[in-house]
Amino acid sequence: MKINGFGVEEWLNVWEKSAVYDIAQSTISSMTLQEILDLEADKGQGFMSALMQEKFNYGWIEGSPEFKKEVAKLYTDVPAENILATNGATGANHLVLYSLIEPGDHVIAEYPSYQQLYDIPRSLGAEVDFWQIYERENWYPRLEELRQMMRPNTKMICLNNANNPTGTTLNRAFLQEVVDLAKTVGAYVLVDEVYLPLDDSEDYVPIADLYEKGISTNSLSKTYSVPGVRLGWVATQDEKLTDEFRKYRDYTMICCGVFDDALGTLVLKHRDKVLARNKAIVNKNLEILREWVENEPLVSMIYPKSVSTSFVKFEELDPEKTEEFCIELLKSKGVLLVPGNRFDLPGYARLEYCTNEATLREGLAALSQFLREYDK
Ligand SMILES: Cc1ncc(COP(=O)(O)O)c(C=O)c1O
Repeated sequence: MKINGFGVEEWLNVWEKSAVYDIAQSTISSMTLQEILDLEADKGQGFMSALMQEKFNYGWIEGSPEFKKEVAKLYTDVPAENILATNGATGANHLVLYSLIEPGDHVIAEYPSYQQLYDIPRSLGAEVDFWQIYERENWYPRLEELRQMMRPNTKMICLNNANNPTGTTLNRAFLQEVVDLAKTVGAYVLVDEVYLPLDDSEDYVPIADLYEKGISTNSLSKTYSVPGVRLGWVATQDEKLTDEFRKYRDYTMICCGVFDDALGTLVLKHRDKVLARNKAIVNKNLEILREWVENEPLVSMIYPKSVSTSFVKFEELDPEKTEEFCIELLKSKGVLLVPGNRFDLPGYARLEYCTNEATLREGLAALSQFLREYDK
């Protein structure tokens, strides 16, 4: 089986530990263990003493009942039995694709988005068509193009909602149109939903609530701020499909670990507090980002709506030099971005604005300076 290198991961693997101002990631400012324990009224004392007595065996294979119950609260139509814990959303996407995609299948994937969603199906022998997103349409893909790409053997449509790297959220009406098209050939719709928008008015809906063949994947890594807790999940209304995932899951993982399950469940139990913390970070930092973009003539941006990843356009940079620019920026100013060519979109960069305020402000100031120094 052959697979392309994972552009964004390969970039981060090499460079992320050398940054002074890391504004490349996409998590909302990660929490410390202390911050997580402080979510509890007793500052986590009860949680820690219970955990000290816990045997570190495999624990709950599919995820603890408490974990599944908490995750099921995020959906209206998915019962707790249909939630399967995975090693992050990466593990969830892999599980779904590995379980369902066979050589010769036709898959349509939003493009660019999270590379797993098209390169794993390709590595499994599927024929993958790219459903392009367009900057001039606020980074939305076109429904008409999806309609034209659909075939009788289209097995799955893969989406990333909200999109990494642009931060664009596909709203309910748009998703309904995708579902209506998928239904015409009985295709699955897999949606990686790690970037849950933090804005109630955004009209966001998980695909598992919208469509009986909709599969939601998600994790605690982005909107919940704890990527170090390697806990994600797959959710679908369909019991038989869940059983299919169970079968393949046994071959690729056993459990997510006693510690991760317990800590992840604690975060989910305090979802309201965590989301309120993160909403405040997103709103405040988006204003800082907006002010910078508005006063920086060398860049432009379609702003993300309450989503933690953003994508900046360099107005005067030769797109061919995007990666070189980002390496020089890091070496000379300590600022880390992800060059857009890592998402097949040269001339842009992924910019994480949901980090701590000082890193964001100083990182943006240094980026502005470098934009003037660099010979494009
Ligand atoms: C769209 C998307 N899905 C999944 C992941 C990985 O998530 P996890 O840490 O839960 O494996 C990322 C990380 O950048 C992502 O952007």
